[in-house]
Amino acid sequence: MPTIEQARSWYPDTDPVHGFDHVLRVYRLAERLATVEDADLEIVRAAVLLHDAQGSRSAGGDHTGRRVHHHAAADFARQVLEAEGWPEARIAAVQHCILSHRFRDDSEQPQTLEAQILFDADKLDAIGAIGVARAIAYAARDGQPAFSQPSEHFLNTGEKEPGEGHSSYHEFLFKLQKLKERMYTPNGRMLAEERNRFMSEFYHRLQAELRGDR
Ligand SMILES: [Fe+2]
Ligand SMILES: [Fe+2]
Repeated sequence: MPTIEQARSWYPDTDPVHGFDHVLRVYRLAERLATVEDADLEIVRAAVLLHDAQGSRSAGGDHTGRRVHHHAAADFARQVLEAEGWPEARIAAVQHCILSHRFRDDSEQPQTLEAQILFDADKLDAIGAIGVARAIAYAARDGQPAFSQPSEHFLNTGEKEPGEGHSSYHEFLFKLQKLKERMYTPNGRMLAEERNRFMSEFYHRLQAELRGDR
C-alpha cells in the first residue's frame, strides 16, 4: 500500500490548487465516506493518493497535461501497484477510480462504490470554504479577480461575451454550484449541500461588501 509519505514526492509543493494539500484533504474526506459506506478502504486510499499524481499543470500555464491527467495517473498507478505486487483485479479497481474521477470527462463514469467515493471527495474539495479559497487562487493565477459582475448573457447561457473575464464568481456560477447535483453517495450529497450553502453565502456577502453595503 503506498504511504502518505511516498505519495508526497509525486506532487508539486507549489501548486495551490492541485498540490499535495488537496490530496490530503481528499484523503480525509474519502476515509470518512468509505467508513460510513463500508467501502474497501485500501482501494480508496490508494486511489486518492494516486489520482492526481501525473499531469499537474506546468509552470508555463499549460492546460494540456490536466486534460489527460486521469489517464496518465492511472498508468502511473499500475506501475506503482505492480511493483508492490498487488493482484490484477485490485490494480484494475484502483485504475477505475482514477479514470472516472475527472468531472470534465464523463466517458468513464464511477461504477463502483470506491470510485464514487473518490469522485465525491474530490469534488467536495472544490466547494465550501476551501472551494472559495481554491477558486480565488485559481483565478489569481490566471490574472482574474475574485469577483467581477457576469454579463446578462453569461447569467442566461453560461457563455461569456467577447472580452469578458472569468472571475472566481463566474467559476462558481458555471461549475462549482452544480457539483452538489453530481454526488453519488448520500453522505457526499449531504456535505455538498452544506458546503454549497456556505459558498453561495460567501459570494452574496462579497457582493454586498463590494457595493459598500456591509
Ligand atoms: Fe484530478
Ligand atoms: Fe483531485
